[in-house]
Amino acid sequence: MSTFSPSRSHALELDQQDPLASFRERFVISDSELLYMDGNSLGRLPKAAVERTRQVVETEWGQDLIRGWNKGWWEAPQRVGDKIGQLTGAAPGQVIVSDTTSLNLYKLVMAALMHQPNRKRIISDAFNFPSDLYILQGCANVFGNRHEIIRVGSQDEGLTPDLNALESAINEDTALVTLSHVFFKSGYLYDMQHITDLAHRKGALVLWDLCHSVGALPIQLDACNADLAIGCTYKYLNGGPGAPAFLYVNKNIQQKMVSPIWGWWGQNKPFDFGLDYEPAPGVNHFLVGSQPILSLLMMESALDPTLEAGLDSIRQKSVALTGYLIHLADEILSPLGFRLGSPRAADRRGSHVSLRHADAYRINRALIEELNVIPDFRAPDNIRLGLAPLYTTFVEVWDTIDRIRRVIEEKRHEKYPQTRLTVT
Ligand SMILES: Cc1ncc(COP(=O)(O)O)c(C=O)c1O
Repeated sequence: MSTFSPSRSHALELDQQDPLASFRERFVISDSELLYMDGNSLGRLPKAAVERTRQVVETEWGQDLIRGWNKGWWEAPQRVGDKIGQLTGAAPGQVIVSDTTSLNLYKLVMAALMHQPNRKRIISDAFNFPSDLYILQGCANVFGNRHEIIRVGSQDEGLTPDLNALESAINEDTALVTLSHVFFKSGYLYDMQHITDLAHRKGALVLWDLCHSVGALPIQLDACNADLAIGCTYKYLNGGPGAPAFLYVNKNIQQKMVSPIWGWWGQNKPFDFGLDYEPAPGVNHFLVGSQPILSLLMMESALDPTLEAGLDSIRQKSVALTGYLIHLADEILSPLGFRLGSPRAADRRGSHVSLRHADAYRINRALIEELNVIPDFRAPDNIRLGLAPLYTTFVEVWDTIDRIRRVIEEKRHEKYPQTRLTVT
């Protein structure tokens, strides 16, 4: 049926052939028995970030003190933004690092709606990250709820979107189409070029949430002529918990976009301390106030392994890892009540795989508490396994499937309550 063999020795062979294998050494791995399958929520700690953080704290903050602002802190949002631009197909001057994903989404959605006051439709899907949908509702509320927010559905229980429904929902009244490039539950990957073209044909702007794709696959924002994008840096970019996020505004529309929050970091000449706001040129006026410099500089150093490995190689390994996991799950876990919660087609899949089971929550608990496996659970019935090509190995995938099998066969999950912990 396939070239994969379900034996562990085959997984070891795949690791030996892996051209990215050496990148695992670039990360802190304190427990080699732990199967960390949650790099799509919080990436591992890069060793370079440990060193860089010590240097920033001890030397730049500790010794340079306020002088640090003139030694690279002030320009960090643009400098690191351009580095992220290299990972998202954006030429310099279009990406800045700032604030959180949710806040950046707010700024860009408001800008898009203010720019097209006569268009009353906003299109997303029912599989977008809920925070994104809340932000849209909040923005519509600011405008007096004049906008109709359409959440396109699915015909296969949320695995993939209903693309026909999406296409027909986009009309001349549409101000904005905003979608997660990769679904946070099923891992479905949109065709960015196709959807962007559909929206542009009707004159709508497009805003992509790249949280689950950045660092895991090649992204071509400029080539697709995307208008706007946002993303986080704590998943596949390994920037650390709560690391600052980024936003992209295509240079072709930068002059038309007005930030809804006018702060001094977005002012043209902040150190003139003039009393009237004058927006900084380009994408810079989307900055608001002081940025979390320690976190930002730590994250800057964390980007290097991804840049060095290259996104084509990362994608190649990601497809191999997710394909391998699906193959093993088909063979070993489907007889035990699991079904695939992610697309089978590799070109429509990001770098995580969801396995669905009626008892998914309790199985997930047993994996974390007894078998040293960390996936995550996403309601109602998904165990999500994130495969981070820079450090996830094929043998870890094999061991994860094997430990899931053990939970079921040994009925280890049955002693856990259905009541969920706060963070799942
Ligand atoms: C797809 C997606 N969008 C938005 C967010 C919200 O990000 P933040 O909490 O950094 O604002 C997340 C968080 O995981 C996410 O996965």
